[in-house]
Amino acid sequence: MTEAFANRYFRAAVLYALIGMIWGIAMGVSRDHSTYPAHAHLLLLGWVSMALYGAVYRLCPKAAEGAVPRAQFWLAQVGLIVMIPGVALVHSGHAGEPLAIAGALVTILAMALFGFTVWRGTVT
Ligand code: HEM
Ligand code: HEM
Repeated sequence: MTEAFANRYFRAAVLYALIGMIWGIAMGVSRDHSTYPAHAHLLLLGWVSMALYGAVYRLCPKAAEGAVPRAQFWLAQVGLIVMIPGVALVHSGHAGEPLAIAGALVTILAMALFGFTVWRGTVT
C-alpha cells in the first residue's frame, strides 16, 4: 500500500522531466531562453523534488501512512501546475505574478506537510 503510494511520485516525476526537457530543447532551438526559470523550476520541483518525495516515502514507509501524504501529493501537483505557467508568463512579459505566487504558496504548504509526515514517520 505505502509502496504503491511512492510510485505515484515516480510517475509524476518522469512526466515533468519529459515536459521540462522538451521545454529546454525548445528554448535551445528557438534561441529564446527568456522562460528558463520556469523550465528550471519545472525540473527542480517536478522532476527532482517529486522523485525525492517518492524516494523518501519509499525509504520511510511509516511516513507514507494515512491521509496527510495523499493530501500532500495533490497539493504538490496543484502547486507546481499553477506556479510554472505563472513563472513562464512573468518571464515572457505578462501578468503571471498571481499564479506564480499562489502556486508557490501551495508548493510550500506541500513541503510543510511533507516535513510533518517525515517527522512523524521517523520517530524512533
Ligand atoms: C534535455 C535536457 C535539457 C535541456 C535541453 C535544457 C536546456 C536549458 C537551457 C537552454 C537553459 C537556459 C540557459 C541560459 O540561458 O542560461 C537551461 C537552464 C537551466 N536548466 Fe535546463 N535543460 C535540460 C535539462 C535540465 C534538467 C534535467 C535540469 C534540472 C534537474 C535543468 C535545470 C536548469 C536550470 C537550473 C537552469 C538555469 C541555469 C542558470 O541559472 O543559469 N535543466 N536549460
Ligand atoms: C516554492 C518553491 C520555490 C520558489 C518560490 C522559488 C523561487 C525562485 C526565484 C524567485 C528564483 C529567481 C528566479 C529569477 O532569476 O527570476 C529562483 C532561482 C532558482 N531556484 Fe528556486 N524557488 C523554489 C524552489 C526551488 C527548488 C526546490 C530548487 C532546487 C531543487 C530551486 C532552485 C533554484 C535555482 C537553481 C535557481 C537559479 C536558476 C533560476 O534562476 O531559475 N528552487 N527560485
